Amino acid sequence: MSSNTYDTRRILKSQKARLIGRNIIIHEVVESTSSFLKDALTRGEVSSGAVAVANIQTKGYGRFKREWVSPRGGIYFSFLIKRFKRDITPLTLVVAYSVANTIHYLTGIKPSLKWPNDILINGKKIGGVLAELVGDNLICGIGVNINTEQTALPEELREKATSVFIETGKKLDLTDALLNLIQGIDKNLTIYKNKGFLYFRDRWLSLCPRWHDVIYSKIGKEKTVSLFHDISETGTLIIVDEDGKKQLFSGEISYE
Ligand code: BTN
Repeated sequence: MSSNTYDTRRILKSQKARLIGRNIIIHEVVESTSSFLKDALTRGEVSSGAVAVANIQTKGYGRFKREWVSPRGGIYFSFLIKRFKRDITPLTLVVAYSVANTIHYLTGIKPSLKWPNDILINGKKIGGVLAELVGDNLICGIGVNINTEQTALPEELREKATSVFIETGKKLDLTDALLNLIQGIDKNLTIYKNKGFLYFRDRWLSLCPRWHDVIYSKIGKEKTVSLFHDISETGTLIIVDEDGKKQLFSGEISYE
């Protein structure tokens, strides 16, 4: 059954002792689930593993403080891991990989990945991941366009963004999709904790259509053409351009 809102009782029943999803806080409307967790953390009101979810965000944000348009029908959630001792670049890749896998499981469509945090279908963005550190606490936000109708997206995004509904014509049950996303991330974070990023490197690359192909990397304001050479053991992007091999720790790439 498809529903554009959450079944609170079912979500609360799913809470278990695990890395994330021990405590799920559901909002109808919130500025941003990540800002909510930051504030709650500052006030000492949330424990490690907490997840904040909202039907609508009024000030959702992504990388580079860009707006993350968050109408009803999408899934917006953030999780908190206290005393996070690892790097956030590989964590971002592991979470994006988990989201792509869950979308594949739910729809039969295999998304592709764009370093470091984009999940794409047919070259259009369907989801994104934003990992932030507050002291040594990790707050990781995930946005996925699930039942989002094209008219709910601003015109300037319609060429670049998509949703499960736009791609398949079918609406998913949001509760089911959210629980699958949380479980998928939780499972992979446990593997990441025990085995490290190397376990995911080849799996991530298998969803990246531009491995060993041309990409455009933006360093500062400059856009340069280069070759996507590899992903390192620490999740950094290795490119080759006219000056030779370079390692990108953050930044942005594009495929056109
Ligand atoms: C990106 O692609 O730049 C990352 C987008 C992350 C959006 C999610 S939606 C839930 C959480 N709350 C926010 O304000 N942002 C993240």
